[in-house]
Amino acid sequence: MIVTVTPNPVLDRTLIVPRIVWHEVIRATTTRLDWGGKGFNVSRALKALGMDSVAVGFIGGATGELLERGLRELGIATDFVRIAGETRTNVVIAEQDTGRYLKVNEAGPVVSAEEQAALLALVRRRVRPGELWVLSGSLPLGVPPAFYADLVVTVQQAGAQAFLDTSGEPLLLGCQAGPYLVKPNAVEAQEVTGQEIDDDDDALAAARFFLEQGVQVVALSLGAGGLVLASRGWAVRARPPQVEARNPVGAGDALLAGVAWAMLRGLTPEEIARWGVACGAAAAASEGVAFGSREEVEALYHQSSAYRCELW
Ligand SMILES: Nc1ncnc2c1ncn2[C@@H]1O[C@H](COP(=O)(O)OP(=O)(O)OP(=O)(O)O)[C@@H](O)[C@H]1O
Ligand SMILES: [Mg+2]
Repeated sequence: MIVTVTPNPVLDRTLIVPRIVWHEVIRATTTRLDWGGKGFNVSRALKALGMDSVAVGFIGGATGELLERGLRELGIATDFVRIAGETRTNVVIAEQDTGRYLKVNEAGPVVSAEEQAALLALVRRRVRPGELWVLSGSLPLGVPPAFYADLVVTVQQAGAQAFLDTSGEPLLLGCQAGPYLVKPNAVEAQEVTGQEIDDDDDALAAARFFLEQGVQVVALSLGAGGLVLASRGWAVRARPPQVEARNPVGAGDALLAGVAWAMLRGLTPEEIARWGVACGAAAAASEGVAFGSREEVEALYHQSSAYRCELW
């Protein structure tokens, strides 16, 4: 059983217009809504792999309702804490032919201490031994950076495993709570370790840093360069096949889904890493936050590669 937690979800509204003109009414030719949120992306990718999950998080107002309905229509079960504020909407206004766009992100709602306590209580009530809990994305306004650390402890005290994917201080504090797995990308790792990642040796050094914080497994994703998957005692370097990248946003979420899915199937580290990069590549090759089919991922898996390397 997998549960994904998205504390800071967002409704992404994309309006396609012929041309952006100031001080005039412009009519959109196409409108697209995407149910944004890192954990939701993981749930969607798991669904494509044939695995159900439950999406948990904060939602509020009419936008929150829309998000919840959208996820349910995708066949993803939800269990949300309703907050007083309104779930944020991010708007993209994109010109049809030029690729020029405006993107406006809302700051989003402030989540109160009571609402935070309600989410922790929900997690405590739901969590069962042996489950895998994916904790993903930024934290909303009002939530202290140690919130993920608290979630990690809550999940793991119940005998489940926490997989953490966030950045900055919430990531560092979260690592110190000893989650089973963390998934930084190169930029997030550099930010936390203070060391540039220019080659494989740098990536392995960054992986060691995360293990030294108390994490069991680190999945350090390197964009088109692939993945370093490491634990105490072993490290694997995996490379995805070359794909024509259309939209790499959400590739890391897909990778995390692939890694979680492969781990639950009891596969070897090399196989887990290859499923991860295959899922990431499938997402990078798809438009928007789409993912592709199980068959596409399987084809990419067979074109991916992985080998063991020395970590210490
Ligand atoms: N251009 C690409 N070609 C092939 N594979 C890619 C490409 N970009 C990403 N991937 C795959 O996706 C994985 C995750 O990508 P990346 O490191 O960019 O994650 P991320 O920055 O966390 O993404 P996000 O947070 O937007 O989901 C990579 O490890 C790789 O396997
Ligand atoms: Mg990411």
